Amino acid sequence: MVKKIGVSLLAVCLSVFFSLPAFAGGHGEKKPMKKGILLAAFGSSIPEAQIAFENIEKKVKTAFPDVPVRWGYTSHIIRHKLAKQGKYLDSVEVALAKMMDDEFTHVAVQSLHTIAGEEFHDVRRNAHAFGNMAGGFRKIFVGYPLLGTDGDLKRVTDAMIKNIPKDRKKGDAVVLMGHGSPHPSNAFYAAMMYYLQRKDPNIFVGTVEGAPGIDEIKDMLASKKIKKTYLLPFMSVAGDHARNDMAGDEADSWKSILTKAGIACVPVLKGTAEYDDIVNIWVDHLKIVMSHFK
Ligand code: CO
Repeated sequence: MVKKIGVSLLAVCLSVFFSLPAFAGGHGEKKPMKKGILLAAFGSSIPEAQIAFENIEKKVKTAFPDVPVRWGYTSHIIRHKLAKQGKYLDSVEVALAKMMDDEFTHVAVQSLHTIAGEEFHDVRRNAHAFGNMAGGFRKIFVGYPLLGTDGDLKRVTDAMIKNIPKDRKKGDAVVLMGHGSPHPSNAFYAAMMYYLQRKDPNIFVGTVEGAPGIDEIKDMLASKKIKKTYLLPFMSVAGDHARNDMAGDEADSWKSILTKAGIACVPVLKGTAEYDDIVNIWVDHLKIVMSHFK
């Protein structure tokens, strides 16, 4: 039953992105089918974070060896910062414009976000706009982020538990740091914690910019008399938030706040995109989209 609802929701979601067939040129000739994949990520200015992006690209190329893969980054700040170092990255919109110019007809935009928050919806809205343009793509769909359905919550639960450092003892907590969002999808973080705690009551999920925040997490740890915790980013890359807000030495980092509360912290600087079984979930979402391009 749950599966059925998931599938029908997805069907509704996908149907929104079907655009009317767009024909090239106006002389009646139809462009030959050309499929393309656009990976949409926030981006990161930290070079080590590239490992995570490279891991995703490798897996996507293995799944679709004949389909060109391109990247679009949603963060203006990061793109401008990297441009100053001579690294020019495309926004999702520029990447799509280039794909339109290069005569792609079927485009799968795969969101590498964790939840369907504001950024995901912006990507979706603009992808939809491209689908409506004259001379544009015949089909353009956006794949779900990591957490799109109830089934994803369960798969991510198993994958995260599998990737907890092996030296963690039962009484030690594991705190995941999500990004957080003012968007209603922020509730996925609490849902994630619910599923994780059903399998392991000492795993917690907090966010930097949404709810639950670190103060709530600190109270939960204190009420369980936790003395030691592992800190893991619940973001695709271990970028600025993981290095500074989670594991940094400033007084307001999660490490400092919890250490001050008498809880020893072991930060793990590894983004979720470095875990193969997490990346497989994004790739499976992309496969659903690609299965509509026939
Ligand atoms: Co942020």
